Amino acid sequence: MSLNYKIIVGIGLMVSLSQASAQVDAEAGKALSESKRCVRCHKMDEKGTGPSVREIAGKYKGVAGAQAAVLGRMRAGSKGIWGDKAMTAVNKDVTDEDLKAIVSWMLAPR
Ligand code: HEC
Repeated sequence: MSLNYKIIVGIGLMVSLSQASAQVDAEAGKALSESKRCVRCHKMDEKGTGPSVREIAGKYKGVAGAQAAVLGRMRAGSKGIWGDKAMTAVNKDVTDEDLKAIVSWMLAPR
């Protein structure tokens, strides 16, 4: 096996592994949105107390820096972006890591 060939196979493997882990993160984010009760206000398709997950994904699709901005608002609480209902700050029993997984699942293009 030539060195080039090994490098190409190696890169291919890395790409498929990172795709697999993106998949796992997405699944974890979805499960966490249920266990952390985000789903009480955020349904997939219908508007509830909060915007639907599909609406959130649509609004931020292709917007640079959206994830960081949204994450900041999750900790601070948010009002006025979607209407006059407020979302209270996401509290500390949702770790930064879990919140990131949920938000990246919510913002994933769909
Ligand atoms: C009691 C209802 C309620 C719960 C529970 C709730 N949200 Fe929200 N959420 C809202 C409302 C209302 C808004 C709209 C706030 C606004 O207009 O600024 C919102 C907005 C959002 C947005 C869009 C923010 C933006 O900057 O556009 C995201 C993302 C979000 N919520 C994620 C979450 C996550 C993650 C959880 C669980 C940890 C959660 N929400 C739990 C009511 C809720």
